[in-house]
Amino acid sequence: MQNSQQPIIPEQSLDRDCTTLSRHVLQQCASFNPEAQDISAIMNRLALAAKLVARRLSQAGLMAGALGFTGETNVQGESVKKMDIYANDVFISVFKQSGLVCRLASEEMEKPYYIPENCPVGRYTLLYDPIDGSSNVDINLNVGSIFSIRQQQGEDLDGEAKDLLQSGDKQIASGYVLYGPSTVFVYSIGKGVHSFVLDPSLGEFILADENIRIPEHGAVYSANEGNYWQWDESIREYIRYVHRHEGYTARYSGALVGDFHRILLQGGVFLYPGTTTKPEGKLRLLYESAPLAMLIEQAGGKASTGTQRLLDVVPDKLHARTPLFIGSNQDVDLVNSFITDWARRQSDIDEISSQESVAKV
Ligand code: AHG
Ligand code: MN
Ligand code: MN
Repeated sequence: MQNSQQPIIPEQSLDRDCTTLSRHVLQQCASFNPEAQDISAIMNRLALAAKLVARRLSQAGLMAGALGFTGETNVQGESVKKMDIYANDVFISVFKQSGLVCRLASEEMEKPYYIPENCPVGRYTLLYDPIDGSSNVDINLNVGSIFSIRQQQGEDLDGEAKDLLQSGDKQIASGYVLYGPSTVFVYSIGKGVHSFVLDPSLGEFILADENIRIPEHGAVYSANEGNYWQWDESIREYIRYVHRHEGYTARYSGALVGDFHRILLQGGVFLYPGTTTKPEGKLRLLYESAPLAMLIEQAGGKASTGTQRLLDVVPDKLHARTPLFIGSNQDVDLVNSFITDWARRQSDIDEISSQESVAKV
């Protein structure tokens, strides 16, 4: 081909096709040192897990025994689906003999799972929610997987993984996979948030969006309003506020990953507050809320428990839960302001009534 001729395929488009997840992670690490190689290798294995889960999900309706419940209950007291177990085992399998991950902790396992052959060299722990939004599996709606990577600290001789009980700022990387019309892999290693779409013909995740920035404000509020009767008055006030103001729209899919992805790209707020039956809410800190909180901050947004930055929360146990308010800065601030105003008003009322009772005496 002569230089003067137009290339058949523009160079940019070829470059883009060649920007695979593993290449991107190495570029992000900006070096080829052993740690960069490790993180890149971990992402590759996670991508393999994502492809295996995506394949199973896409064929589940045609396979015997892929859908439905196992009949078991997990440590959370929730009914386990066959797909939860399949995906849980996939993440374990892809890290066997990897020399990367010594320990995995998941929603579906009461205690951390060790891969002893990796432990002499593999100093990383993978925390994950293998299938997020399991209630969507049997009706062919979107689900996800969420992951977080932390460095193991100490030898963990009693196998209790107490070193994991640290704030979300200790995460080295986090991300999720969204199994929707296409399979999307979103990750951060603390240098922005990037998304990749699975090209099934190549079997590769190809860069879709680099350095995603969440809008400062969005129209969407995403909450299970069926819990209204169980919420604190402050949350009910916020919900009444959005009901009475123009410019808000509700979206809730029952799968956090899908709802989060919409908000990451288009702005708004996802909220899962505490309820009377579950004062800490439903979502698990280490493998649901904290990984997404890392992503949202990396994208310029915010995550809070209502009263505290989510990434500052130190869990007291592996499966600890926290309320979650996550999304655009302005929208999370607005929810938080309802919570703090309500708390202030309550303490003013308490103050007045204690003064009144002192006066009576
Ligand atoms: P999981 O399927 O991993 O248990 O997570 C379900 C979570 C989350 O995906 C979703 O946002 C939320 O639970 C939905 O809960 P409700 O049905 O209580 O709204
Ligand atoms: Mn989940
Ligand atoms: Mn799950």
